[in-house]
Amino acid sequence: MTFDDLTSRATATPDLTALFANEPDRLDRMALQVGPLRADFSKQRVSAEDLDALLSLAETRDVAGWRARLFAGEPINSSENRAVLHTALRGVGGEAVADDVAAMRARIATFAAELRQSGCFDDIVHIGIGGSDLGPRLVADAFDATAKAAPRLHFANNVDGASVNDAIAGLNPKRTLVIVVSKSFGTQETKMNAESVRAWLAAANCSPKDHVLAVSANPDRAIAFGIDPDNIFDFWDWVGGRYSVWSAVGLSLAIAYGPELFGELLDGAAQMDRHFRDAPLVRNMPVLMALIGIWNRNGHGYDSLAVIPYARRLRKLAAFLQQLEMESNGKSAGRDGTGAGVTCPVIWGDEGTNGQHAFFQWLHQGPKGAPVDFVAVLTDHENRPDHHRALLANCFAQSEALMLGKDEATVRRDNAERDDLDSLAPQKTFPGNRPSTTLTLDALTPTAIGHLIALYEHKVFVQGVIWGVNSFDQWGVELGKVLADTILSEIEGGKTGDHDPSTSALISSVR
Ligand code: F6P
Repeated sequence: MTFDDLTSRATATPDLTALFANEPDRLDRMALQVGPLRADFSKQRVSAEDLDALLSLAETRDVAGWRARLFAGEPINSSENRAVLHTALRGVGGEAVADDVAAMRARIATFAAELRQSGCFDDIVHIGIGGSDLGPRLVADAFDATAKAAPRLHFANNVDGASVNDAIAGLNPKRTLVIVVSKSFGTQETKMNAESVRAWLAAANCSPKDHVLAVSANPDRAIAFGIDPDNIFDFWDWVGGRYSVWSAVGLSLAIAYGPELFGELLDGAAQMDRHFRDAPLVRNMPVLMALIGIWNRNGHGYDSLAVIPYARRLRKLAAFLQQLEMESNGKSAGRDGTGAGVTCPVIWGDEGTNGQHAFFQWLHQGPKGAPVDFVAVLTDHENRPDHHRALLANCFAQSEALMLGKDEATVRRDNAERDDLDSLAPQKTFPGNRPSTTLTLDALTPTAIGHLIALYEHKVFVQGVIWGVNSFDQWGVELGKVLADTILSEIEGGKTGDHDPSTSALISSVR
């Protein structure tokens, strides 16, 4: 089975409505429940035979073997010669690091509990970017469904001064804890924001020792930056930045929402880990999700995937997944250096129902549209049951509408009174047959969020294996960083370098 075979196979796949008619057991086979998370893949345009072919592709690509190597802690991040052990942070796999992880979890829990008890701080400013920001921000929003942050949590990520200004606006430095999070402790944005906040603290005579913590896999650099060694929480190079919310990177979550909630988040992810590790491929939620993603990308030729949470408190999900998926699998070179062909689609999206009033037109009637992952929460956490019922109704209606569409004959019948039917009918026709997955969470609990994030992590892993890329490096972010340093020194008055006319003009416009 090759990727070209997928393309020719997909052209022969029946329409979604025919698939439901042909396959009476379709929903049973294509819907899975793992703990509080249900995935319904039945509205994906993939037949039972297609799925068999995809499963045999997974076998050919040795997904089970790679999965075993992941959990065993083998150095599967080959270009950096590192193991990939974010599951060990949740207590699954990586026995060799289990003691270190347990010690780290105990330190976080004790520290967070004591700090909360002390009542010394009203606010936390979490400084970090990319994987040192997106996971904590996504989870903090989601935790808000069931808990209240105390101390309150603020994030500074972008090097744009607006980011740090917004984060500290109105805060009392004497009652503020700053947590600088950077795996490398070499990231320009984070260091600059940390320096600005340190100056803000100094102006109020607050000592960094009492107010600034750091989380890093490079404690030496954190110390060189001026962080007190006792204030550093370290983690390990086998935790990828975009997989790091489970490590001390989540310290601000543990302090703001309590170590118990943070523990439940990790336990939820662990349940998904065990499912991924133990379930046969055919009933394995992350594996099926990965195979369907490959089918949509390489078979049906979709360029993007929309992720639409019908849950405001998951509104950062698409942004989080943009890094998780596109930094992991947005690659053209395979792990053996050969061309990988077509890989990761563009990930995008926004919260429902807002998206319905913006880009859903394109999803329903654009030339090709995109597959959608709908995410819904079955419990109302806002004490507004009428709103919640309407929210869910919209979510379920959209997936049905994408699938069923509205044919031209029906449009003509419904608009028989119009004398411009020939031009109007095609404009009011919905092609339908557009695929989606619906994920439902029983409630927006920390456990359920852990399941959800771990599901996508493992999906990304399986897709990387099948596409033959290393999902755990990110060389593509380096070039721009290096050039930015050069251009910054030129903007600050250094010697003008050798640039193309466009870039030179842009630099001159600032100088
Ligand atoms: O965007 C590149 C990247 O290296 C990400 O992989 C990482 O999550 C982010 O920058 C932040 O890096 P750090 O945690 O080292 O500051």
